[in-house]
Amino acid sequence: MEVIICPTYADMSRAAAREVANVLYAKPNAVLGMATGSTPLGLYQELVRMHREEGLDFSQVTTFNLDEYVGLSPQHEQSYHFFMHENFFKHVNIPPQNVYIPSGTTNNYKAFCEWYERRIKEVGGIDIQILGIGSDGHIAFNEPGSSLMSRTRLKTLAKPTIDDNARFFAQREDVPIYAITMGVGTILEARELILLANGKKKAHAVAEAVEGPVTSMITASALQLHPAATVFLDTEAAAELKMRDYYQWIQKNKPGAPRT
Ligand code: GLP
Repeated sequence: MEVIICPTYADMSRAAAREVANVLYAKPNAVLGMATGSTPLGLYQELVRMHREEGLDFSQVTTFNLDEYVGLSPQHEQSYHFFMHENFFKHVNIPPQNVYIPSGTTNNYKAFCEWYERRIKEVGGIDIQILGIGSDGHIAFNEPGSSLMSRTRLKTLAKPTIDDNARFFAQREDVPIYAITMGVGTILEARELILLANGKKKAHAVAEAVEGPVTSMITASALQLHPAATVFLDTEAAAELKMRDYYQWIQKNKPGAPRT
């Protein structure tokens, strides 16, 4: 796992956007795995800027989102459909038919989840998956105890996640308690993973995920099993890492770089 510690949130967002853009330059019809939450907003803004100012092209791109709340229609302002449209899709040129987001309103969740997994395989798999991290260490909505081999499925949200997300709803009772989420096993099959985290609220979960044991109690720790996972942090989110100096030494002294 590579750990990149950036001075600010803006630097972290730019560094992660460069990683996504590099995948697109190498493979214009790449399959991108998208994440929601406040963390990737800066990354999406930077990709939109690259699209407008540098001609970064999304016309052949396909996307799969990690998750969606059950019970919210795509028009609901807190749905991940709405979030993705407002913050990213409406600003770039991805063909709408290439956009996949789990349905929060299907009447057959099991069949939907199987279809979602099949579609990912049929388009050749996800090239780069963007991830945030919950304060309980989850990725997507894979709450503590989720199997590290889990697939896309219906999940009950943990209470801390409901509390975290209550700030976006008028009242706590409005937060859905179920979601459809890609599984940890689904996520681990992406060719490359990038996890972003900023702010001191994430410092503990980040330390557990990066330096703790691999455990289904912290599903982000499964990134340790992936051969191409990079964690982008701002200094606050990196604050509880014991090996901070080591990660910075490695960043400065990559193979091929002049010795410092
Ligand atoms: C939700 C999402 C996750 C996201 C997490 C953190 O639980 N399902 O994918 O990583 O929130 O959100 P934020 O970036 O707002 O802290």
